[in-house]
Amino acid sequence: MSYETLRFTRQEAADHGFLGIITLDRPQVRNAIDAAMVREMHQVLDATNDMTDLRALVLESSSEKAFAAGADISELKNRGVQDALNRINAGLFRRLEEHRLPSVAAVRGYALGGGCELAMCCDLRVAGTGAIFGQPEVGLGILPGAGAIQRLPKLIGLGRAKELILTGRRIDAQEALAIGLVNRVVPDEQVGQAAREMASGIARQGALAVQLSKMALNAAGRSDPSFETVDVLAQAVAFQSEDKVERMTRFLERKAKKKS
Ligand code: COA
Repeated sequence: MSYETLRFTRQEAADHGFLGIITLDRPQVRNAIDAAMVREMHQVLDATNDMTDLRALVLESSSEKAFAAGADISELKNRGVQDALNRINAGLFRRLEEHRLPSVAAVRGYALGGGCELAMCCDLRVAGTGAIFGQPEVGLGILPGAGAIQRLPKLIGLGRAKELILTGRRIDAQEALAIGLVNRVVPDEQVGQAAREMASGIARQGALAVQLSKMALNAAGRSDPSFETVDVLAQAVAFQSEDKVERMTRFLERKAKKKS
């Protein structure tokens, strides 16, 4: 199957089945996540669910500049209440988190907004020394509605999550490691290999035990019945605001001006 926004390949995992490698491939827009990418990710998750010889997934980027720079702002600007309620990105990320296969994010460059949220819904994260993480959504008049509100506090604690989300401050790989946002930091050129080794380390374990452990860990982290409800509703409100339209228009105009 061929895709427009990503690539999917399989790689042997040292005598223990295969790894599925998903490579985000919209380098011209820093892998901004648009509707086509969401659709194709769903297709890949369908396909990988049926591949019984797969043991783990690795998510990476075709470019060293960005893992993903978030949702595509040119689409986001026009999304309204119904789009927020449809959980376009949140639904995909939840699905990846719940996938029967464990996943490892290999982060080089920017992982901002939905890019950081995508990395967080993977089970493990390897970052290159040059990786930059952040949740800049409030600067665009919306909230990080695709999982950061739940997953960031769980990974780094509520106080730190509030700082990153409310100020939009970006952090580098070392800080991300120190606060628990990533599991390992390696030189940028070794990120892909390190993520594959981590995934192969999972592949060597009992496949059913890994799958059940992942399910149990996910359940253990989710005792709150309102999970993802409050932020989806809040995002629906933010999507209707004039402030959001103005801020996203300013971002897009700045980029257009730079080009001309
Ligand atoms: N949505 C749509 N387009 C995006 C994008 C996004 N999230 N992030 C980057 N792009 C586009 C830029 O508009 C630019 O397009 P152009 O070449 O047609 O002008 C191109 O990708 C390259 O981006 P540029 O800003 O020139 O690259 P950079 O290396 O200087 O900076 C970032 C990279 C990621 C720091 C910067 O692009 C950025 O801040 N992006 C937005 C991040 C964000 O707010 N994400 C949250 C969305 S909710």
